[in-house]
Amino acid sequence: MVIRKLNKLPKDFISFIRVSSGIAYRLNMKVYLVGGIVRDLIIGRESFDYDIVVEGDGIEFSMKIARKFNSNFRKHHRFGTATVYYRNYKIDIATCRREYYPHRGALPRVSRASLGEDLLRRDFTINAMALSLNKTDYGRLIDPYGGYIDLKNGIIRIMHDDSFFDDPTRILRAIRFEKRFSFRIEKHTLALLKMAVSKKALSSVDDQRLRDELILILKEPSPLKYIKRIQELTGLSFISKGLRVNKDDYYIFARIEKAIELYKNKFSTYRRIEEWIIYLMALLSKLPRNDVIRFCKSFRLRRGEEKRLVDYFEHRKAARYLNRNNIKISRVYFLLYRLSFETIIFLYASSRNKTARDNILFFLNKLTDVRLSINGHDLARLGFAPKKLYSKVFDGLKMAKLDKGLVTKNDEIAEAKKIFRRLKK
Ligand code: CTP
Repeated sequence: MVIRKLNKLPKDFISFIRVSSGIAYRLNMKVYLVGGIVRDLIIGRESFDYDIVVEGDGIEFSMKIARKFNSNFRKHHRFGTATVYYRNYKIDIATCRREYYPHRGALPRVSRASLGEDLLRRDFTINAMALSLNKTDYGRLIDPYGGYIDLKNGIIRIMHDDSFFDDPTRILRAIRFEKRFSFRIEKHTLALLKMAVSKKALSSVDDQRLRDELILILKEPSPLKYIKRIQELTGLSFISKGLRVNKDDYYIFARIEKAIELYKNKFSTYRRIEEWIIYLMALLSKLPRNDVIRFCKSFRLRRGEEKRLVDYFEHRKAARYLNRNNIKISRVYFLLYRLSFETIIFLYASSRNKTARDNILFFLNKLTDVRLSINGHDLARLGFAPKKLYSKVFDGLKMAKLDKGLVTKNDEIAEAKKIFRRLKK
């Protein structure tokens, strides 16, 4: 079947594949678009994964392409793959390969193969299709395993019975595709999935691979439905022992969605937030702090990600002061100003107290950028010493500015003198 979908690709990417096709022809190789992008082209969904496979030497082909376009290029010899950076695109180019798993859950060993075998090693039929980029049959759909029909019927079907054991992250991928596209996991596939779960397949996977899957899930729009389905099919213990979500969490997830919308609409000039971190906070919020730290370590979250998560657990008690009607403005400021926007949004979404929510909104509206007119140089010039007290002086000044309304630089200097005197006593 010739699929006239290739012309739905962005124009500059089409020029890229036209040129690539010429290069492959001269090298006597065959090239194909594969995987998620083929699936997405057929259903008319925008895709950001540009995957090409080559029958031939993928690395040699990629080097020629990179030279032709003068693009950056990175090769990964072990897998016979390379990444070419062309304009805004990151294009993954691989040699067609078969895979062999030395033990379950491990990274596969690979050897060169035909396109048919390359498609066979993939996770689901809907992801096991290719579109020819070759001159002789440009745009032809190669679909040996019935992916097109499954895609049209909304079915997630595994390629072979061992697949969930070979790569148990596919259990989570099946759920992700099922929920993302509102598809259905086919009966036999579901039985295999359940069997793999009952044999504890997920525990053979590196935590970091689980983390990547979890993050992908939390990055989907409305991730709660994915989490509920994971709870139903695998349980959430692979994230943290005994973890469960219940009606309270459903409510909070819904409120987070609204709070994120509010933030994006009203505070669009503020830092871009990482929404998945907020959902992760919600997911972990019932755990003791130590379990959260254990999770961050074993899932190897980046330092900034861990900090934002742990901040919530360290500040949630103090944040209860935000419930108070007569709280001083400076208190609102000092409770929140060191926290990330992700943490603040979570506090906002998870608080059932209207005063607290109003205080948080007040902070976001008015207090994110409280600046003083004087700085450390001014204090030094005026002979304030020792310097180690300066940060406390600035905190005191901000407090006074917010509560007493200091306006001029001279007001601040006078206040700084008082604070210094107090601190030195
Ligand atoms: N793949 C696989 N098994 C995995 C991961 C990936 O077989 N555990 C194959 C699938 O054919 C998939 C392709 O590699 O289509 C590319 O993987 P990836 O980019 O992770 O997935 P996409 O299908 O593009 O999904 P998404 O839309 O979420 O990026």
